[in-house]
Amino acid sequence: MHVLFYIVPALIVVLLVVYVIIESSGFRCVEYTLETDKTDKDLKIAMICDLHNKDYGNENEALIEAIDAFHPDFVCFAGDMVTSGWDVSFNYQKTLGFMRKLAAKYPIYYGFGNHEQNFNEDRKKFPHEFDDLKEALRDMQIPLLDNEQIVLDRYHTVICGLNLEYDFYRGRDEKELTAQMIEERLGKADKERYVILLAHNPVYLKEYAKWGADLVLSGHVHGGIVSLPFVGGLVAPGFKLFPKYDAGLFREDQTDMVLSRGAGYHSVPVRINNKAEIVCLTVKGVQHESECETAGV
Ligand SMILES: [Fe+2]
Repeated sequence: MHVLFYIVPALIVVLLVVYVIIESSGFRCVEYTLETDKTDKDLKIAMICDLHNKDYGNENEALIEAIDAFHPDFVCFAGDMVTSGWDVSFNYQKTLGFMRKLAAKYPIYYGFGNHEQNFNEDRKKFPHEFDDLKEALRDMQIPLLDNEQIVLDRYHTVICGLNLEYDFYRGRDEKELTAQMIEERLGKADKERYVILLAHNPVYLKEYAKWGADLVLSGHVHGGIVSLPFVGGLVAPGFKLFPKYDAGLFREDQTDMVLSRGAGYHSVPVRINNKAEIVCLTVKGVQHESECETAGV
């Protein structure tokens, strides 16, 4: 009786530890399918964010294999591919190796996260990291979209990278962001083409929608670190509990937002019921179908 009294709780603890270790290692590919009537082309987009220099081995060969299996038209990085916080390592050389291999296969569009922006703003702590990163990306011909729009005529699409100052990620209360402020940074949203907005912080979805994004690709929240059944993510950066946007697909007016749980972690090296992921997104262009219907074909 006494032996069981100790063994059963010990066994439960061991099983929990094993579960957390398994949940916190590896990644999965999460698939979404959306539609748009702004183009007649189908688009396949692989999205990675919040890698935080995580290496799944051999410069993330496994991530590249997973992306290859999806055959995307292009790849989007939605911020925080590197780490500049109070993590132990700011070294992103392996991440650059991964990006270099990926860039040899696919066009890549890189949007800022708070960690890239922290490299940029905190030059005392990071005197050369941001410039080195920019130069390496330039060599790989990966555009780092610093409040820029790139028109992809082939897909009747525009990719926009919103870069917000570090203050927009700091603390428990969000700094106000309006559609007008987004326009001041990015210019007007294209009304004709399908507008993809790389916006690392998902809390401003309403403003992104007002600005005119058709699709927002976002991250930052890491799925809330612990995903509770029926409740969702537990904690967001800034120690905000139960974030409204934790992970998955959200819609605001005419705007879809795909919010990734992220491909890595930093500071808190644990994920529970919240596996790391990359996003494999198909956007079906339905323009041709409606035109066919109108023509009675
Ligand atoms: Fe972030």
